[in-house]
Amino acid sequence: RQTALGIDIGGTFTKFGLSDIEGNILMEGSIPTYTHKEIDQFLEALSTAIKENLDKILEPIDIIGVGIGAPNGNYYNGTIEHAPNLHWKGIIPFIDLFQKHFDLPMIMTNDANAAAIGEKVFGGAKDMNDFIVVTLGTGLGSGFVTRGKLIYGHDGLAGELGHTNVYPDGRECNCGKRGCLETYASASGIKRTVFKLLATNNVDTPLRNYTYESLSSKKITEMALQGDPIALEAYEYTSDILGLKLADAAAVTSPETIFLFGGLAKAGDILIEATKKAFNDYLYPGYKGKIQIKLSELMDKNAAVLGASALVWSEIAQSDIIR
Ligand code: BGC
Ligand code: NA
Ligand code: ZN
Repeated sequence: RQTALGIDIGGTFTKFGLSDIEGNILMEGSIPTYTHKEIDQFLEALSTAIKENLDKILEPIDIIGVGIGAPNGNYYNGTIEHAPNLHWKGIIPFIDLFQKHFDLPMIMTNDANAAAIGEKVFGGAKDMNDFIVVTLGTGLGSGFVTRGKLIYGHDGLAGELGHTNVYPDGRECNCGKRGCLETYASASGIKRTVFKLLATNNVDTPLRNYTYESLSSKKITEMALQGDPIALEAYEYTSDILGLKLADAAAVTSPETIFLFGGLAKAGDILIEATKKAFNDYLYPGYKGKIQIKLSELMDKNAAVLGASALVWSEIAQSDIIR
């Protein structure tokens, strides 16, 4: 059976999976990203984990290529460049290094771009040519598809919505700037908002029992669903900023739909309803009623892994799966 290996490098976990052209997953697994401070050490751990999992597959398989989605992944060069939320600084020649472990054709794209390809091939964007996928994880990623093609830009790094500016002198971002969108609208951003809210009022909430390290965005979501006022206010604040910036993004490419994906999107209506409201309030009137905001249809699936392998099908296998 012909298969493609898809890898999604995240700030916290790196997931991998082997899929066929229909998107059936034959094997999947993950390793923590953050514990491997050196890239060589990480590649060693990743290769070992993948090889162990491949060994368990009983049927004969042929891996035609490897697709990799990574924060700050450069499609043109196969490099990871100055990733704010990874340990590895500078420009990492990822594909060159990884090919020492697997002698296979490899292709890299940004993690959110991979999610956008996953949405197009296997998710809610099947019949769409113009859409945006926004991933709300450790950072905020975005993949812009116009007329059926991903926008890569001049340097291969287009689509960094997470580092567009909300407040010029706002929160410090891991990228070195201040006030970037991802410092507000992301799993880490909402945590910062919760601590800000806790510091500026006396509301009695179990959220006070957490440290920055022990609090997760999942917990904030849980508390919001239970009606906790601080968690709810944090979601409102986050959604308002997200809606504002999505309205700006929409004005650049005129999408049919914006899909939200990732840990924070799991909050469902709590995030999406308020985001839609803000989006519509801030949207250029000429677009009103024309652009949907939806949750990704691949929420519970491994969208980025599927997307990264779909990239292999489209480019290495030269199938027209994407176009
Ligand atoms: C990076 C993006 C990435 C996003 C999600 C951002 O900080 O700049 O390249 O897509 O995080 O991982
Ligand atoms: Na992107
Ligand atoms: Zn930034």
